Amino acid sequence: VLIPVILAGGNGERLWPLSRHHTAKPFIDLFGSTYTLFQETLLRVQGLSEQAPIIVCNEVHRFLVAQQLQELGIKNASIMLEPVGRNTAPAITLAALEAKRRHHQDDNSEQECIMLVLPADHLIKDLDAFSEAIKQSIEVAKEGGLVTFGIEVTRPETGYGYIQSLNGSSVTAFVEKPDKDTAQRYYLSGEYLWNSGMFVFKPECYLTELALHQAQILQSVSLAYQERKEDLDFIRIDEASFAACPSESIDYALMEKTEQAKVVAYRGDWSDVGSWEALFEYAEKDERHNALMGDVMLETTSNSLVRAESRLVATVGVDNLVVIETADAVLVMDKQHSQGLKKIVQRIQASG
Ligand code: GDD
Ligand code: MG
Repeated sequence: VLIPVILAGGNGERLWPLSRHHTAKPFIDLFGSTYTLFQETLLRVQGLSEQAPIIVCNEVHRFLVAQQLQELGIKNASIMLEPVGRNTAPAITLAALEAKRRHHQDDNSEQECIMLVLPADHLIKDLDAFSEAIKQSIEVAKEGGLVTFGIEVTRPETGYGYIQSLNGSSVTAFVEKPDKDTAQRYYLSGEYLWNSGMFVFKPECYLTELALHQAQILQSVSLAYQERKEDLDFIRIDEASFAACPSESIDYALMEKTEQAKVVAYRGDWSDVGSWEALFEYAEKDERHNALMGDVMLETTSNSLVRAESRLVATVGVDNLVVIETADAVLVMDKQHSQGLKKIVQRIQASG
């Protein structure tokens, strides 16, 4: 039994000013295609599992989630609503508790229950390679591992996790978001893979490792889940207990610490459209290597991403820029500094 879990709670801070609290990245149509990133993620797992998905998202997005599920004809999903964001470790813990409960009630509960955790901010076109890697990972997860997917490192990116694997599927080291020099060293060594951000494991394995390394997270989330209230497909959890939970990503909280980490190679295409730089890499470019979106006009401009939402945007004599115009905010940024955008968003949040 494979239960898809979709994490759709991030704010997409590095895609400011397009992505905001109320119009978060998974729910917007970034490239003007038919589906949102969240819907693309749901479609990707349809051939792999018959089980209704578990969605973990912020409560302000509940209607977007319900509507986008309905558009795809997906019924009986568990939509778990977080009153506040506490990052991915608590979100996955909620899903693990729900998967375990569902599985106990299931007629097939003698079969093993495996969770397939997918972030809602990935773009993957090669569905065959994706399905192949998932099938392989299920076999490894049955043995009790926390399975990650390793992607070939092609630049010293500091926004990803790095997995060192010297033999087979065992992980020798997991390092989340290393600094520039470390990333450069890993890149040159050829011994590392990027962590894709997708995970496969049995709910009990995850919960056991969590109890070992992050007892506080397990305790707060269990309390929040015990006090849950169900209303249609929505599952509301106790706000006070959840708010008291430490805010940590699965990568720092668990993957860097556990000895149960495993890795399966993923060789298909993949993009985490987590930053403007990543979106630029993925987008179609013109002959001067510019990615253009909306009403824009360029003169002697190269290697730039220029996007207009509500006005004409023109650039002259620039290179390597990201220019994003929306009705109430404009971003002008050196493309190589896209990780620094988080600081601006934090300052905006702090100033209310
Ligand atoms: N429900 C919920 N609640 N989802 C969340 C929360 C939360 O509080 N915070 C983040 N998410 C979701 C995001 O929407 C995204 O889909 C996913 O979890 C990952 O969060 P990111 O914030 O995008 O993480 P990241 O990209 O910096 O890093 C992760 O992904 C990289 C590859 O994309 C890590 O796993 C890295 O190791 C990895 O390389
Ligand atoms: Mg991401």
